[in-house]
Amino acid sequence: MTAETFRAIAEDELLLDLAAAIPVDRLPALLLSAAIRYRVARERPEPLADYYPRPGVAPRRPGDAGFRVALREFARTEATELAALCSRHRYQMNEVGRCLDVLPVLAAVSSGDLRPIALVDLGTGAGLGLHLDRYAYRYRLADGDELVAGDEASPVRLSCQVRSGRPPVPSGGLVLAHRVGVDTEPLCLADQDTVDWLAACVPPELGAVTRFAAAVAVARAHPAPTVRGDLLEVLAGVLADLPADVLVCLVDTYVHVFFTPERLAEFHRLIERVGRERDLEWISVDPLVPLGPEATATVQGLDVPPQWRRDNREGGVFGAIGRISVRGGAWTGAVLGRAHPGSAWLDWTAN
Ligand SMILES: C[S@@+](CC[C@H](N)C(=O)[O-])C[C@H]1O[C@@H](n2cnc3c(N)ncnc32)[C@H](O)[C@@H]1O
Repeated sequence: MTAETFRAIAEDELLLDLAAAIPVDRLPALLLSAAIRYRVARERPEPLADYYPRPGVAPRRPGDAGFRVALREFARTEATELAALCSRHRYQMNEVGRCLDVLPVLAAVSSGDLRPIALVDLGTGAGLGLHLDRYAYRYRLADGDELVAGDEASPVRLSCQVRSGRPPVPSGGLVLAHRVGVDTEPLCLADQDTVDWLAACVPPELGAVTRFAAAVAVARAHPAPTVRGDLLEVLAGVLADLPADVLVCLVDTYVHVFFTPERLAEFHRLIERVGRERDLEWISVDPLVPLGPEATATVQGLDVPPQWRRDNREGGVFGAIGRISVRGGAWTGAVLGRAHPGSAWLDWTAN
């Protein structure tokens, strides 16, 4: 659906004009696609609405040539509204499925350290990653076996194909003593319009749409503290407010990849400074940097197998899963695996 929408934008004059009016750094094609979906969800135009999935409901029509025709027609009647939405909003991706990538790292952390965990989700967005102990997990292994973890009764059901390796999963459920999010622009899920916009930014795929809606319901039921601000400026203060006996686990999914090299270096210095005062973990799930085909390393400065760099060049973006542990001021780090950005698959490379 995304590819077909992009093709329609590229080939239809009106859609192309709407996209061309959006500054490139605001991701024109994605932003316009989200604006279209937002209006489709509001207006439910026939037959266009039938091409999109809704939570738990597959599209009533399969992708066919009628989609383009319906899309163009709708865009013509909605052009002013679409332009207004694009100028008011930014494209905001919140992928709760990335908790599948973080959970095994937290399991490895807690199996080697008995201290209570304080989860600090950097760039938390809508805060869906703050509730990863409240979701049900299913890892389908390459040998046909399955690993299950988390809260089996949860309405948020996350699953992925493990293409290689065996990720550790927490045996007795994960206990979080504290949780706090940080974001320059935290998103308030109590506001229905915010939720509707975020839903419009979710890839138009049944699984993604369904898990997003379920995760929003969980997050709404359990409001978690979130600090507004640039993490480079506010993180030290956030950590100072946490009790001394907890093990701080900083989690960043698809955040540091967007930092400039200077800001990334500043974050490393911040971790070094804070790490002299207290032990911590930094768990990262980020594409290789610099973002794009020339990427060479992880945001944590860890090396990856040469094949991964080739895959990144030829096969598309994935998130490298890395863990940096700081104990008594000393750093150790390892890349533990990699994952599809929308959590379809996971390679677990650590033993
Ligand atoms: C691509 S989204 C990822 C959201 C979520 N972590 C996920 O994986 O679905 C990046 C988030 O990081 C936030 N962000 C970017 N730079 C930041 C900074 N310097 N400090 C705090 N938050 C930041 C953005 O506002 C946005 O919500």
